[in-house]
Amino acid sequence: MLVISGIQPTGKIHIGNYFGAIKHWVKLQEKYKCFFFIADLHAMTESYEPKKLQKNIYETLASLIALGISEKKSVIFLQSQVPFHCELFWILNCVCPCGDLFRMTQFKEKSKQFKDNINAGLLNYPILMASDILLYNAEFVPVGKDQLQHLEITREIARRFNKRFKKTFKEPKPLLNPLGEKIYSLINPSKKMSKSSPEGCLFVFDSRKDIKKKILSSITDSGKEIEFSPKAKPGISNLIKIYSLVEEKPIEEIEKEFLGKGYFEFKNKVALSLIDYFAQKRKKYLKLVKKKSYLKKILNKGSQKASQIAKRNLVKIKKSCGLL
Ligand code: ADP
Ligand code: TRP
Repeated sequence: MLVISGIQPTGKIHIGNYFGAIKHWVKLQEKYKCFFFIADLHAMTESYEPKKLQKNIYETLASLIALGISEKKSVIFLQSQVPFHCELFWILNCVCPCGDLFRMTQFKEKSKQFKDNINAGLLNYPILMASDILLYNAEFVPVGKDQLQHLEITREIARRFNKRFKKTFKEPKPLLNPLGEKIYSLINPSKKMSKSSPEGCLFVFDSRKDIKKKILSSITDSGKEIEFSPKAKPGISNLIKIYSLVEEKPIEEIEKEFLGKGYFEFKNKVALSLIDYFAQKRKKYLKLVKKKSYLKKILNKGSQKASQIAKRNLVKIKKSCGLL
């Protein structure tokens, strides 16, 4: 059983990334053969500065390790260092109808958000993601809810390829962390927290001061009860969810704990609890992020391991579709 997942180095890791995906990865590596990678090729679909991308790659890697991903338990690699992803990408482009790509929610949203940079990579993004997964014939893909549609198109691409040629790929299944599958922006709780809109993000390694400031000034709703009601009270419900994830307490227990208390008291408690939860991990991160040559070595080693497997699998895939 093989598990694979990736994260884009487009900015600092936020609590949506952590509770939606990374925390789950940390657990999975105890049970499965896991491959985790930094999706730098995917990050190129949005405007970026080359120097900043390099910096983000190292920071993302240091973050993953500080949060508990271990190079001893998992293969950690950099997508662009395994060129076979791009080779498979071309092959899969030829079995994926254009119409499927134009229908993708992420493509529609990002073309609205980045009107002056609607590049072909943004459209073909899901095919590269399918290549990342199918190249390793992975069974499980732990992701947040926003990626489910990409997983569905990956399965569809696998089916099309198997039908057109011969059965070559398994159909990978998503793994969700139900409570953390979608954390919303702190300033706009109708939108998911995302690195592409940093204003609404709470980053896992934010300073104490920033965590407190961001939580206290997060959008809440009218009324003053601490009640979990995502439609009527999206802001406070988002905070309850976050608190529940951090404290590992059921939502009903939290509602009882804050019965008769106000937003300020609740927000204060959420902030303190987040500060506490990430304090040690932050210390580790601040040390690690300075060790560039150590981080580079981890990527080189992991990318070599991943390449060996990818190369072997690609030989079979090429044979299936008539390449020499
Ligand atoms: P972002 O959208 O912030 O750039 P990525 O695309 O790099 O994040 O996603 C990395 C992982 O984190 C994916 O598995 C994704 O589904 C998950 N994820 C991203 N944002 C959230 C969120 N707000 N809530 C839950 N999971 C999320
Ligand atoms: N598209 C994913 C995201 O934005 C990142 C990603 C790229 C990924 N390739 C993947 C996730 C393969 C899982 C499997 O979150």
